[in-house]
Amino acid sequence: MTAHLNGKRIVLTGASRGVGYESTKLFLKAGAHVIGTARDADRLAKAAEEFKTLGDFTPVLADLADASAPATIANAVAAHWDSLDILVNNAAVQVYKKDWYEEGLDMLNEQWRINVFAQHELIFRLVPLLKKGREPRVINLSSGAGTLQALRETPDMPTYRLTKYALNGMSLLWAGELRGQVAVNALDPGWLRTDLGGPNAPGEPADGARRTLEVCALPWEETGKFWHGSQQIDY
Ligand SMILES: NC(=O)c1ccc[n+]([C@@H]2O[C@H](COP(=O)([O-])OP(=O)(O)OC[C@H]3O[C@@H](n4cnc5c(N)ncnc54)[C@H](OP(=O)(O)O)[C@@H]3O)[C@@H](O)[C@H]2O)c1
Repeated sequence: MTAHLNGKRIVLTGASRGVGYESTKLFLKAGAHVIGTARDADRLAKAAEEFKTLGDFTPVLADLADASAPATIANAVAAHWDSLDILVNNAAVQVYKKDWYEEGLDMLNEQWRINVFAQHELIFRLVPLLKKGREPRVINLSSGAGTLQALRETPDMPTYRLTKYALNGMSLLWAGELRGQVAVNALDPGWLRTDLGGPNAPGEPADGARRTLEVCALPWEETGKFWHGSQQIDY
């Protein structure tokens, strides 16, 4: 299932822990070259040490809360490679609050940049390199928390849900714009025991990584869809 990743050039945000950390290990073991980003310098440096024992890994430090971060990452990628095969928009934040009033007015503004606009700007800036890649793909890590049904039925952590709902819409729009050039899909990795998912989640971070690789293995013609691994789900 991973032979097609050998030699592929992959950019993944949030490589330092959780799903992104496990995905990076799987990509490197499959022979891919990975540029991985995070915001915490020590944690990224520690992960990079381990990644470099597995293969070709380049760390890029950038806090996606900072408006200049997507340009920093895209410039680092362009300085390194003249083409890109896969962009995995994995990094995101979630802070559990019961409702809009517990969140206050600032949370939507803060998380929108990290969970939506950074993904959009990274796609925007990396499309020229992706168009030079081999069967290029974008995978946006979304969530079951952001489906239309979840929004209808469950009003807690509204900012997180809204950012993932928006990311799904953004995936559809980019898929339409890039049809035949770059496949763009959204992925729900499942509820997993990471810092974000919390200790009560039923799944392991490695399950999310396996599902990320499953989306990388889909027929390239599959675009504009929402996946739970290789299983298509409703937006
Ligand atoms: N875990 C779940 O149950 C679950 C369920 C559905 C969807 N997802 C989605 O899966 C993806 C990965 O989640 P996870 O559970 O692996 O999260 P996680 O364990 O909290 O890891 C988040 C990663 O993103 C990076 N990151 C966070 N904020 C950042 C910022 N402002 N700038 C740059 N990097 C930042 C972190 O880097 P630092 O170490 O530097 O902070 C870390 O590498 C997310 O998109 C999440 O929404 C997760």
